[in-house]
Order: sequence, then C-alpha cells, then structure tokens
Amino acid sequence: MNQLFSSFVLRELKFKNRIVVSPMCQYSATEGVPNAWHLVHLGSRAVGGAAAVICEATSVSPEGRISPGDTGIWNEIQISAFLEITEFIKMQNCIPGIQIAHAGRKASTRIPWDPKKTQALTVEEGGWTTLAPSAVPFDANSLMPKEMTEKEIQEVLAQFVQAAKNALQAGFQLAEIHMAHGYLLNEFLSPLSNLRTDQFGGSLEKRMRFPLLVASEIRKVWPAIWPVFARISATDWVEGGWTLQDSIIFCKELKKVGIDLIDCSTGGSSPNAKIPSAPNYQVPFSESIRKESQIATGAVGLITEAQQAEDILRQGQADIILVGRQFLRDPYFASHAARTLNETINRPKQYGRS
Ligand SMILES: Cc1cc2nc3c(=O)[nH]c(=O)nc-3n(C[C@H](O)[C@H](O)[C@H](O)COP(=O)(O)O)c2cc1C
Repeated sequence: MNQLFSSFVLRELKFKNRIVVSPMCQYSATEGVPNAWHLVHLGSRAVGGAAAVICEATSVSPEGRISPGDTGIWNEIQISAFLEITEFIKMQNCIPGIQIAHAGRKASTRIPWDPKKTQALTVEEGGWTTLAPSAVPFDANSLMPKEMTEKEIQEVLAQFVQAAKNALQAGFQLAEIHMAHGYLLNEFLSPLSNLRTDQFGGSLEKRMRFPLLVASEIRKVWPAIWPVFARISATDWVEGGWTLQDSIIFCKELKKVGIDLIDCSTGGSSPNAKIPSAPNYQVPFSESIRKESQIATGAVGLITEAQQAEDILRQGQADIILVGRQFLRDPYFASHAARTLNETINRPKQYGRS
C-alpha cells in the first residue's frame, strides 16, 4: 500500500490521501471577492484528486491584502462567493481549506503581471498604509509600515477571529493560519522585523505571544471536530534571524493551544536570505519539527513527483505533502500520481468513459 494514497484523519476530518494543494495567490479577486476564476482554478484541482485544496492567502481585512487582487474574508459578499466554491470542492469529496492571512509590512504591492510590479502601491495609487510590529520596511521598494499600537494588535486579533468565523460560514472545514513568508505573524516572530520592547517583542517568548494568541483564539472558534494548520517559515535563512531551534520551541507551543499540523515552509522575512532551493530542500525542517515538537507536519517545496512524495512519507519526514507549482502545471497531479504508483482512485462519474 502506498503511503501517498493512504487516508489520514485529523480530529474527525478524513483526508482521502496525503496530497494537498498548497495555497497560491491568484491576484484575481476584486475587493476581496473570489470569482469564476477561483471556482474553476480550485475546483479543477479538487476534480484532479487532491485530498484537500487550501485557498490562497485570504485576508482578514482590506489592509492585510498583499495586493488589491487578493481574496478576503471580512464581509458577507466574500462569504457567499466562497460558499459556492467550497460546495463544489466538497462535491468532489475534497476538503475545502482556507489560508487566513494578514500581509503586514508586505502588503500594498502590485499584482505580479503589473509592469511596475517591483514598486509598492502607494496610497495615491490605491494602496494603503501597512502595519507591522516595528516601523521597518521589508526592502527599499516597500512602503514604510506603521508600528502597531497594542490597541491595533488587539484589533487585528479580533479580525483574525472574525475571519475564522466567516470562513466557517463560507463552508470551509480546514483553516490554515499564515505565519510564514515574512507576513504579519511571521514579522512578530522574527527578530529581523520585530524590534519592539513591549510584551510583544524582545525575547522569543514575547515575539511568539501575538501569533500564539491568534492561534489559540482561532482554535476556540473553529469546531473541535475540524483541524487548524499553521504555516510557518521554519528558518529565515539569515544569520541572526529566526531558526529551526526557534521553530521547534514555537511548534510545541502551537501544539499546546490546539494546532493540529505545521505546514513547514521557510524564508520570506529578508530580501538578503540565501535560500538553497532544490528538490526537497524544506523537507528536513518538516522532519525535525515532526520529531522534536511531536506534531503532525506537512512538507512543501519543489515536490513534483509521485515517488518523491511517497519517499518523504515513508521516511517519516511528514504526514502530508503540499504541492504548489506542480498543481499549476497539472491540475490532475493527484490522479497522475495515483497512476504512477499503480493506485486506483475514484474519478468523477462524469469522466467514467474516459
Ligand atoms: C503563484 C504562487 C502563489 C503563492 N501564494 C501563496 C499563498 O497565498 N500563501 C502561501 O503560504 N504560499 C504561497 N505560495 C507558496 C506555495 O504555497 C508553495 O509553498 C511554494 O510554491 C513551494 O511549493 P512548490 O515548489 O510545490 O510550488 C505561492 C506560490 C506560487 C507559485
């Protein structure tokens, strides 16, 4: 029996196999509302056999969007637009997941196919003031963020909780909190972006405080039968930045507040990071966190082949495999992986004659 096509249960949610579509921004929403593009994009990957599809980084507020094309989950229009998508995903016996996010100092950017994409979107051009733990921009092209007051921290906490409640109303069964890639919660964790001297900055314990609060408050409103994931950047890849050892401590704390699985990514806090990108390059982080923090993990990053994914699971390096770009190339990656590993999986009835 292949591990990749074995089922996996977290709380009372059953993943029919171990393949999950990694969250990927489509920069195609208007005022945070997903549309036919999102339905077809996410829906095709559900038809293609993935156990779960995690919708792109979806913001808790207008200011938390990376770009004006990001999806959001702060209002009723967004909830009903997402409901149509989650219903379709569930009809494919696939789990609808949502990545709940706030982009912090990396917000107010242009969409990638804008010719001026490297320059931030200024307030005059329809951008907005960005928020961060400290008034330190990400790079020379980013806007100067506003250092959040304690009141603003509490407001954003409330926005995360409301976003989770809205996501439930929108039909999602799996929530992933975005704590990676140099966005707001990652900015609190990393000593490169958090220079605060109050209860939310300084020691590791204080830098973890806000992300842990978000995790524990979301866990309280998410149904006990369904899991909550956290995506982290397990290292900043920068001397003096966040490390794997910090991640191991943090993930133990995330486990205590009820987080079920750590989606192990890396990087994003610093433009100076030296990232040794290669197949499986992030897998050792998943393996260490799984063993040392005693929590389920997901491996992600340059995993493109069925056997490669199978080997990661067999070696006990992860519990699930998240696949990003290979799913952009091939929406049927999961079905094709099944064929490669000689597995039979249920395909849509409509395609039975193929
Ligand atoms: C177009 C695109 C959009 C992405 N958007 C997100 C996102 O919304 N949230 C996130 O955590 N990661 C995002 N990522 C990162 C992917 O989820 C994934 O972690 C990364 O691409 C590495 O996996 P891969 O090699 O399988 O693509 C994005 C990647 C791509 C290519």
